[in-house]
Amino acid sequence: MSSSDNGHSQNGEQRGSLTAVGTGIRAVGQLTVEAIAHMRAADKLLYCVGDPIAEHVVKSMNENGAESMFHYYEENKPRAQTYEQMIQRMLECVREGMQTCVALYGHPGVFAWPAHEAIRRARGEGYEARMLPAVSAEDCLFADCGIDPAMTGCQSYEATDFMINGRVIDTSSTVILWQIGVLGDWSFKTGAYDTSSMPLLLERLRLFYPANHQAIVYEAAVYPGCKPTIRPIPLFSLPWSGVTAMSTLCIPPARAPAGDPSIYARLPQYGQQQR
Ligand SMILES: C[S@@+](CC[C@H](N)C(=O)[O-])C[C@H]1O[C@@H](n2cnc3c(N)ncnc32)[C@H](O)[C@@H]1O
Repeated sequence: MSSSDNGHSQNGEQRGSLTAVGTGIRAVGQLTVEAIAHMRAADKLLYCVGDPIAEHVVKSMNENGAESMFHYYEENKPRAQTYEQMIQRMLECVREGMQTCVALYGHPGVFAWPAHEAIRRARGEGYEARMLPAVSAEDCLFADCGIDPAMTGCQSYEATDFMINGRVIDTSSTVILWQIGVLGDWSFKTGAYDTSSMPLLLERLRLFYPANHQAIVYEAAVYPGCKPTIRPIPLFSLPWSGVTAMSTLCIPPARAPAGDPSIYARLPQYGQQQR
């Protein structure tokens, strides 16, 4: 076993490490057993969660080590700057030799860049770093809206990325647009975001869908016992649909897939059925 395999340096000091865990969308109920174990065992438990119950749950896991990173968000401050500060704080703790756990809401690596980047940098400096999977908003959407991606396929995009980067949609698949409520706004807001670019998003969606195609504005329940919000809207009403920073847009398929008979006929199973 090398000196780093047992988490200690050559002079016997504990080496820092980083583990990213997710609290799920509903911390009460969706925290995994392995996430709880890591949160409890950590010397330092950094966290950034979106609601007071989740915060209470996280703090109760590690009374002494828990430290919120939410204060890095500030009104109108670019989110990229906040994320960089969070990454720096994670690395600081690791470099100080602490077994560091970072708990983020949802899945820590789904539409959540800081944990991925902190892990990449920590590994680059020779520290152990890893991410555990968790329940994301998309997982909740599949359950609440009764969608199995196996039936339609599924394309998931960050809404602004979809709008500005010429992403292409296969309209026979389910399309999920994340961060629809912060469209085109790179800053943090405690209140409403500036989504005045919504008509531009609509313009792009209209390249693929009719104006009255039904989409769903979805918000998973954050508290146990509460119901999700599943609001069908015609696409043309998107600019005044009242999406929030928590909303995810789900666009069901507009057509059946165009099968390829030439491939189908060459499938071994199909050939056997014909004999
Ligand atoms: C920065 S991302 C964080 C995603 C999170 N890491 C996860 O695993 O779901 C924020 C986006 O996630 C989606 N989201 C977060 N909470 C949600 C909720 N309760 N219901 C539906 N979508 C949600 C929205 O698209 C929101 O703009």
